[in-house]
Amino acid sequence: MSRASLVVVANRLPVDRKTAPDGSTEWVTSPGGLVTAMESVMRNADSAAWVGWAGGADEDIAPFDIDTMHLVPVTLTAEEVEKYYEGFSNDTLWPLYHDVIADPNFHRTWWDVYVEANRKFAKAAAAATAEGGTIWVHDYQLQLVPEMIRSLRPDVTIGWFNHIPFPPFELFAQLPKRDSVLRGLLGADLLGFQRERDAINFTTCVRQILGYRASEHQIVVPGLGLEEDRTVEARCFPISIDVSVYDELTKDPAVLARAKEIREQLGNPKKVVLGVDRLDYTKGIRHRLKAYGELLNDGAIDPHDVTMIQVATPSRERVDAYKQLRDEIELTVGRLNGDFAPIGRPAISYMHRTFPRTDMTALYMCADVVLVTSLRDGMNLVAKEYIASRIDERGVLVLSEFTGAADELRAATLVNPHDIDELKSAILHALAMSEEEQQDNMRSLRRQVFDHDVQRWASDFLEALERVGGDRGAEARK
Ligand code: ADP
Ligand code: G6P
Repeated sequence: MSRASLVVVANRLPVDRKTAPDGSTEWVTSPGGLVTAMESVMRNADSAAWVGWAGGADEDIAPFDIDTMHLVPVTLTAEEVEKYYEGFSNDTLWPLYHDVIADPNFHRTWWDVYVEANRKFAKAAAAATAEGGTIWVHDYQLQLVPEMIRSLRPDVTIGWFNHIPFPPFELFAQLPKRDSVLRGLLGADLLGFQRERDAINFTTCVRQILGYRASEHQIVVPGLGLEEDRTVEARCFPISIDVSVYDELTKDPAVLARAKEIREQLGNPKKVVLGVDRLDYTKGIRHRLKAYGELLNDGAIDPHDVTMIQVATPSRERVDAYKQLRDEIELTVGRLNGDFAPIGRPAISYMHRTFPRTDMTALYMCADVVLVTSLRDGMNLVAKEYIASRIDERGVLVLSEFTGAADELRAATLVNPHDIDELKSAILHALAMSEEEQQDNMRSLRRQVFDHDVQRWASDFLEALERVGGDRGAEARK
């Protein structure tokens, strides 16, 4: 493929190359909400390319096409995987940007490698983009890339979108190298955030740390020497899901049959409660299991009537905080099943693996209650996927106030997951909710999600980027 007019750059490609013990390799869908959202946007984009990492170390892979997408792999060395991806991205920035739920670790060598890895992505994106094109950079792993691209390719329009929260000044100020991170981001024309609060946090940090002039949405970046000042915009664009996928899957007889089969396999309980998360400490899985365990212990939930399913996707398995979390969750689930499971079926059915989208949809269709209890979450797409799957307009979403989704999904049962008593009451309330109340809430939630799907999110962002990118944007449109 010749150079593309739209290039997406993310740490991950939409597919991950896995090597089996016998040395054979296969491509599997990459984990996480970024890929879920961007994959459907890119399937519909002509003359677009996706630059990212294929998940291994020291693997040189030539650009290739998959379905309708053109993918350009970036090779990471074993040291870059350890220090840029597992280290600075997921052991420094991730906990710091998620309210320090876990302690951020910082090592100066991690930063050096983060800079070099960002340079690799920037160079690959610059090389893949047509004259006057648009580059859309994604997420916290690539915060230096906008500025690096600007110096390599002053002709292109640059956008960046943060899939995770942007922390308040008081937390961001702890980040060593904070000035460089802000300057890196300000290489973009438009910076997108999940919530209004995130955009404001960012502009506040720029004002306080760099001393630039900034209103809530506009920042004036002073030009160096003869250069003119530049205006950068920071706005919120809440991300969403491709509702058409769920519309189709929920009408597929095989998916309907699978939902029925799952319920039967669980022994046809009166109610099914579901949790679906990457196994991440931000998701509040510990809090959820504590509340659910207490309800079993109190006798408020009878495991003969109610079964909980917890799907925990493997994630960042070499980072210590994730290893510890997995041990704790698996110990707790084992204990709760040992104490409460009826003979022949679990109180909590726990799965630590990924599933095809058909199975995920079947799970959503058979769940009477979904628990999203994140302690902090940029958006949380699971919440929106559940709503999109409820063609029967039934089911209850218990949703943490600390998700981006809570700003939009006001008809969910909103909870503070830190308050275990409140969480217990919310679970019982959800299990007892009348069909009429479920329908009222679900209708309103479905309207919200169907009116704001991921295609609209992408076009809102790209239109704003064209507007802000000015001349460079006009070139790209030609
Ligand atoms: P995050 O981006 O932090 O992982 P989100 O809730 O925004 O959280 O997105 C998670 C995405 O991963 C959703 O699209 C969800 O359907 C998908 N997912 C989660 N667990 C699994 C699993 N076990 N198998 C397949 N897909 C999964
Ligand atoms: C979140 C992040 C993504 C990331 C995903 C999965 O959604 O916002 O950038 O890709 O989690 O995490 P991983 O570390 O496996 O890429």
